[in-house]
Amino acid sequence: MTVKFATNDKIAETSSKGNQEKWRDNGRWYKLDQFGYEALAETVISRLLERSSIETETPFRFVRYQMERMNVHGRERNGCSSADFLLPGESIITLAHLFKRFDQSLKEKLTRLPSDKQRIAYLANAAAELTSLSAFPQYLTMLFEVDGLFLNDDRHLNNIAVLEKNGRYDYCPIFDNGAGLLSNTQMAPMDIEPAALVRSAKARPFQTTFNRQIIHARNLFGPQLRMPKLTESDIIEELHEPLQYYAERDRGIITDRVCQTILLRQKQQSQE
Ligand SMILES: Nc1ncnc2c1ncn2[C@@H]1O[C@H](COP(=O)(O)OP(=O)(O)O)[C@@H](O)[C@H]1O
Ligand SMILES: [Mg+2]
Repeated sequence: MTVKFATNDKIAETSSKGNQEKWRDNGRWYKLDQFGYEALAETVISRLLERSSIETETPFRFVRYQMERMNVHGRERNGCSSADFLLPGESIITLAHLFKRFDQSLKEKLTRLPSDKQRIAYLANAAAELTSLSAFPQYLTMLFEVDGLFLNDDRHLNNIAVLEKNGRYDYCPIFDNGAGLLSNTQMAPMDIEPAALVRSAKARPFQTTFNRQIIHARNLFGPQLRMPKLTESDIIEELHEPLQYYAERDRGIITDRVCQTILLRQKQQSQE
């Protein structure tokens, strides 16, 4: 099915790597592929997260994404959609906004701290204090574990958020994993070995390695994410439908990149 957009309402959102064009329509958010196969990454990651402990054993949630073919300004484009997770009267406050509102010296404080571990502790505890969300450090740790497993290198402070309604806060479902799985084929070109790309990737928001970010957060707040061991055939099963949206010549190489990324990261994360 092709979704047609009659409007030109483009929502601008600051992201470290530019903005994926997106629309809200009929209770769903739609966003277009920008640098590669972001929609496939969103869809596959959210399907694999269904196998995790997130919604069965923790108070946290994640956004479900599905593939879409969209006709935008007369052109067929790939993208994904997700149900709007905001309840009536609720708003999303990204950490960038939260700190702009309440703690303008955050950046300065973070740069003054001498280690990544202290920066992670500061960010987690400051957000918990400002929002009274006492499990925010665990939420952040889980987010880092999810990012590490899927190599999402775009977890800047606008991709971490809380929900607010009448001055009360809640945990935001984990959203925007679209930069994972080497989806940005401009930054991570198709002709470079996936293993080399995985090795050189850096985690946000602290620009350290994924392993270090996870080790520090787990040492501080305990491991959070439980995920059964994923096999190549588990990943291929979830890839099957989303791959149909992409050119046939790219399907093999996308499969290889996605499988290698998850299997390599899974191995590294379990050794920690
Ligand atoms: N399912 C959703 N429900 C509510 N708001 C959403 C949803 N998806 C996106 N948004 C809004 O759009 C913003 C950007 O979404 P995001 O997935 O981070 O896109 P991008 O990849 O362009 O950064 C979010 O901060 C939020 O305000
Ligand atoms: Mg984003």
